[in-house]
Amino acid sequence: MYGEWPESVPLSPQAARLVRIRQYVTYIPSRKSGAKVPDFFRFRWLPAGVLRLRWWPSLLCIRSIFCFVRALASTNKYLLRYKWHFLGGVLFVALSTLLAIFPAQIVRYAFDLVNEGIDLYHLFAGTRAQSSVYTLFGRNVLFYGILIVLMALLRGVFLFFMRQTLIVMSRRVENDQKNEIFQHYQSLPLSFYRRNSTGDLMARISEDVGRVRMYIGPAIMYFLQLVVLFVLIIPLMLMVNVKLTIYTLLPLPVLSISIFYVNTLIQRKSDEIQRSLSEMTTFVQEAFSGIRVLKSFVREQDSHRQFTAASENYKVKSLSLNFVNSLFFPLILFLVGLSTIITVWIGGQEVIRGTITTGSIAEFLIYVNLLTWPVTALGWTSSLVQRAEASQARINEFLHQQTDIVSRSNVVRDIEGDIVFDHVSFTYPDTGIQALRDVSFRIRPGQTLAIIGNTGSGKSTVAALLCRLYDTTRGHITVDGTDVRDYALPTLRDQIGYVPQDVFLFSDSIRNNINFGLDQPDEQRMQQAAKDANVYDNIVQFPEGFDTKLGERGITLSGGQKQRVSIARALVKEPSILILDDSLSAVDTNTENAILNSLQRIMAHRTSLIISHRVSSVKLANEILVLDDGQIVQHGTHDALMAQEDGLYRALYERQLQSEEA
Ligand SMILES: Nc1ncnc2c1ncn2[C@@H]1O[C@H](COP(=O)(O)OP(=O)(O)OP(=O)(O)O)[C@@H](O)[C@H]1O
Ligand SMILES: [Mg+2]
Repeated sequence: MYGEWPESVPLSPQAARLVRIRQYVTYIPSRKSGAKVPDFFRFRWLPAGVLRLRWWPSLLCIRSIFCFVRALASTNKYLLRYKWHFLGGVLFVALSTLLAIFPAQIVRYAFDLVNEGIDLYHLFAGTRAQSSVYTLFGRNVLFYGILIVLMALLRGVFLFFMRQTLIVMSRRVENDQKNEIFQHYQSLPLSFYRRNSTGDLMARISEDVGRVRMYIGPAIMYFLQLVVLFVLIIPLMLMVNVKLTIYTLLPLPVLSISIFYVNTLIQRKSDEIQRSLSEMTTFVQEAFSGIRVLKSFVREQDSHRQFTAASENYKVKSLSLNFVNSLFFPLILFLVGLSTIITVWIGGQEVIRGTITTGSIAEFLIYVNLLTWPVTALGWTSSLVQRAEASQARINEFLHQQTDIVSRSNVVRDIEGDIVFDHVSFTYPDTGIQALRDVSFRIRPGQTLAIIGNTGSGKSTVAALLCRLYDTTRGHITVDGTDVRDYALPTLRDQIGYVPQDVFLFSDSIRNNINFGLDQPDEQRMQQAAKDANVYDNIVQFPEGFDTKLGERGITLSGGQKQRVSIARALVKEPSILILDDSLSAVDTNTENAILNSLQRIMAHRTSLIISHRVSSVKLANEILVLDDGQIVQHGTHDALMAQEDGLYRALYERQLQSEEA
């Protein structure tokens, strides 16, 4: 967007600074061209701080609520979903506000009554009626007192329901939104995950959703409260005295704007602290997960130095936040105090002039008190809305991304496993690396095809394309004569048992890891799969057997054990197509042979694709493809390939034989 900045206009140092902190600058569509120009372009004469914080158009927050909420419009569907909560909230806000205003009027009556009572009391001095006057006024004041207490209690009840409706609504929306984002994430293709870091994905589903919640809950609640209060109180105040009203309200906009300013500052500093905290956490996490490397390279001192620096950074930022926080409440108290003094001062003059009674001063003081919090909250909520807007925009950016891996005609049927790669070429979209060039082969049901080749030759890419984790750039892949793009994705992937090259096991029990792909796990099937993957004996030796926990809180499996659990996870699905991507690299040759033998038995009527670096893993296959730089350079059986003296296969075989002997 900054590319649109006219080159002939050099950036002032001030503006350049603004460019750096661009997240605080909003864009306003230009009236003429419709193009978005940085807002500060029009207001360059204003000091940078003023521009950055953009408080000036937010007088009374109207713009914040209605104009900054372009991205937030996408949360309207949730408001509609919880409309009864919302409407209930509006009702309870109105009722609780009414019950806050009535007592102010009662106080005025009581005040004036007491004034008159004192006069009357003195008037009847020395007569018998004096004690009756005393009792009468005493009772009246008591009555008003009880009325005020009752209203306060009732107001408490309505305030409770106000939070129970509006804040509950915001929590539900938060929950719905998190679920929606999570589900959407899962639908996105692998390329999406390569482009965005896990930290970013996590931040949007937790931090950003949390900020949007602050808009749906507190911001809307306090805004409603403010509107109802203003609508009810201002006419009442004006009816009593116009001059006093104007003077009393005078400090309130200043209060609101100052709070907005200070709060934005607080939030910016909190963000910095958050970032510095997450840097520190990441550092600590890495230091301790890599503790083996750290200790063996004797880097403890260095690591300590780095931590001290990170922690110092955090301390400086926290102290700076604390400084601003310390300004917050004195500022509020000062402005509220100012309002009170003005009310008493101007009110006192009006009383002397006889335009109002002393009761009205008391009434006004209560109004000022009532208005203070919502007006303070206005400043606070404006910055909440601004942040929520930015967060929702970030969420929308992900939500609007669609997966291009969708089924063309949702074919659902049992797969036999006749796989054809027809002149397939593939280039990774984000890196532009061409991984496969014009690859063609066929595997008939029940047959085993092996792919061997140097590292980076495109073997794993073949597996990824078959599972349709990516779509081919050219050529097509068919399974049982149907293009993979026509199968419903769950149908296709459900019938493929894929053992990826980088083994990933969840921090859960071994049982749950093996049964991961099944909706209804079966004990017998699981044990058989573990036996076929040659890992059963290892598992039963653990004290808790299949219930042994893996991961951080549990035991750590050896590389070979992990690979075999991962194979068992694919076998238990009883797939029509089995893909082993270098899944035997960490097991010894005996275990490898045992696994390959059991695979031959169980895959007799199914199709297998075995990818490996090692000749020992592939030699039993019906056919072997030799890949080099994305192209098939040789194919045939082990014996046929061995017969080709100057072929890559024979070279690989001899290289491996030598290294084994060495
Ligand atoms: N997700 C990806 N995005 C972009 N490029 C990739 C991706 N995965 C692999 N590549 C590139 O594609 C080429 C083929 O990679 P591939 O993983 O298919 O090789 P391989 O034969 O499986 O290698 P190895 O034996 O080391 O597993 C490599 O040059 C690699 O850098
Ligand atoms: Mg690979």
